[in-house]
Amino acid sequence: MKIKTAVFPVAGLGTRFLPATKAIPKEMLIVGDRPLIQHAVEEAKAAGIERFIFVTSQGKTAIEDHFDTNQLLERTLAERDKKKELEKVQSLQLAPGDAIFIRQQQPLGLGHAVWCVRNLVGNEPFALLLADDIIMGAAPCTAQMIDAYTKYGRGNYTAVMDVEPDHVSRYGILDIAEDDGFLVKARHVVEKPKPSESPSRTAIVGRYILDPMTFDKINIHKFGVSKEIQLTDAFRPMIDEGVPFYGVRFAGQRYDCGTKEGWLEANVVNAYHSDDMQEHLLKTLKTLRIKD
Ligand code: G1P
Repeated sequence: MKIKTAVFPVAGLGTRFLPATKAIPKEMLIVGDRPLIQHAVEEAKAAGIERFIFVTSQGKTAIEDHFDTNQLLERTLAERDKKKELEKVQSLQLAPGDAIFIRQQQPLGLGHAVWCVRNLVGNEPFALLLADDIIMGAAPCTAQMIDAYTKYGRGNYTAVMDVEPDHVSRYGILDIAEDDGFLVKARHVVEKPKPSESPSRTAIVGRYILDPMTFDKINIHKFGVSKEIQLTDAFRPMIDEGVPFYGVRFAGQRYDCGTKEGWLEANVVNAYHSDDMQEHLLKTLKTLRIKD
């Protein structure tokens, strides 16, 4: 079955980036010349996604505006013959009817955010992208996930990577049943375990292909780790009912832009790989070294 829908949970408060995120959504922080959420949407588009569902909250209207038409801006750019800029602004718009914005009224966690779209997605598998995670590499990570889904069939899929043992408590972690170096089949998954109790160091990163059964298995009355309704907690009952859970060891480099360090790293790497910024970046770093 073709994966046509992608869900973007963008309701988080962005407390780690305060005060920057007091009045702007954290998903609007930029990496390179575009906000985090645009990176995620472009990755989804490149994977053939046709419907974009954003789970927003109060104070997130900048995201809607970003993907909408800005008539004054476009008219002004056209009048001033700024063709390149106009092209950039127009190409990121989502076609009428392709973008849906709904609100998660309370910050109850990722599981709850996903549950909020149950009536919009319907009975088909869908992609889930967490915009905090930027994944750079040759093939878009969502496309790699869809390829795996197409090849291996029904199941829940997440991108995975091995993390430092003392970082496992930041992630959903797989208890591995089989691992062929690309596809990891999990016995179960556990959200943010203590390092001493972690079944492995193979961690979920923010790309998923989810079976629609997920909506029935998210228990909105059960608060998990961090007193949130965790998406990860929905996987175990599905595994028990025969819906396999797979981790995909994707090709590419992931940057956790939900942290200042990861966000900085993503910007530096992005500048290094961009024709118009590389020289300036290297010059700046050289100047810093001389001062040291
Ligand atoms: C969420 C998921 C977690 C996953 C992580 C990836 O956690 O709950 O399983 O490993 O994203 O970034 P969060 O970062 O929202 O705490």
